Amino acid sequence: MHREWTIPVGDGLREMAMKTEEEEILAGLMAAKKHLPSKFFYDETGSKLFEQITRLEEYYPTRTDKSILEQNAGELMQGIEGASLVELGSGDCSKISILLQALPRETLKTLTYVPVDVSMSAMEESRCNLQERFGAIQVSGIVTDFMQQIHPVSQYENRVFCFFGSTIGNLERRDAVRFVGKLGHLMETGERLLLGLDMVKDKAVLEKAYNDEKDVTARFNKNILSVANKIIGTDFEPDYFRHHAFFDEEQQRIEMHLVATRDMTVRSPLFEGNLEIRKGETIHTENSHKFTSDHIGKFASFSGLSVRAAYTDSNRWFTLVDYIK
Ligand SMILES: C[S@@+](CC[C@H](N)C(=O)[O-])C[C@H]1O[C@@H](n2cnc3c(N)ncnc32)[C@H](O)[C@@H]1O
Repeated sequence: MHREWTIPVGDGLREMAMKTEEEEILAGLMAAKKHLPSKFFYDETGSKLFEQITRLEEYYPTRTDKSILEQNAGELMQGIEGASLVELGSGDCSKISILLQALPRETLKTLTYVPVDVSMSAMEESRCNLQERFGAIQVSGIVTDFMQQIHPVSQYENRVFCFFGSTIGNLERRDAVRFVGKLGHLMETGERLLLGLDMVKDKAVLEKAYNDEKDVTARFNKNILSVANKIIGTDFEPDYFRHHAFFDEEQQRIEMHLVATRDMTVRSPLFEGNLEIRKGETIHTENSHKFTSDHIGKFASFSGLSVRAAYTDSNRWFTLVDYIK
């Protein structure tokens, strides 16, 4: 099955053919270097495991990003009355909650919150939490892959796009620039983008964050094979793989892989034959690119946005950039 979708795009941006989930997984497994798109981590189990990761001692990104939001919520939310807060990759919505907490009920009543996430379970859970905590705000969630389908956000006005947690780092460098460019193109004058960026730092700190002692990240990584089993009917045995995460200094990114610990034959009704995987072969499951101040300027110059302010923590490990059109 093949569905075509045309995204309204600007100069230098291309039309994208929308692939089905089955096609995306098959293409990754049939490639010379096997890979799976990282969005497939996030079924119900994966979203819960990610929430556990965010609470791990070793995993500095979430607490650092949150501390920046906590310290600057007042300034970030100045003049926010009447806005639509559109959060891409909203997950458990705990970050937007920090900003909403800083607002009086009268202001909350004027806001619309639009979480956008590929995970239906995360969306349902967070909707309940938000309505319980901030009953006054209007919540209107969109379950979609924002890389393939961003136009549903066009119906909202006076938008502040929020893209926290350095999720942008999961995109290839050139796709990240293109994606911010696409956002810049669809934004109207005066609209904002709050972009969270995990900065380049000591290799030991980075590698520890993706290799926790309790092996939660390893379980999260292996869960992608259970998701593939559900979507394309493969019979992957996740325990026949080992979690491997390391910092590639040249590309300035953490790479996560699953390494086969034995030879195996994988079957699926969608394969033409069987998939043979050799011991030691890897499936590349995630990149998490890290950023420098040069990237902050590059995003601005390719998107027609200006940097209004940039906030960081005492270690300068994370940056929250407030861009405006
Ligand atoms: C690394 S988590 C970050 C969650 C949260 N923003 C935070 O900062 O803690 C990435 C989130 O983005 C969602 N996501 C990843 N790729 C996506 C895509 N292409 N389209 C929509 N959501 C996506 C995942 O389901 C997950 O909730």
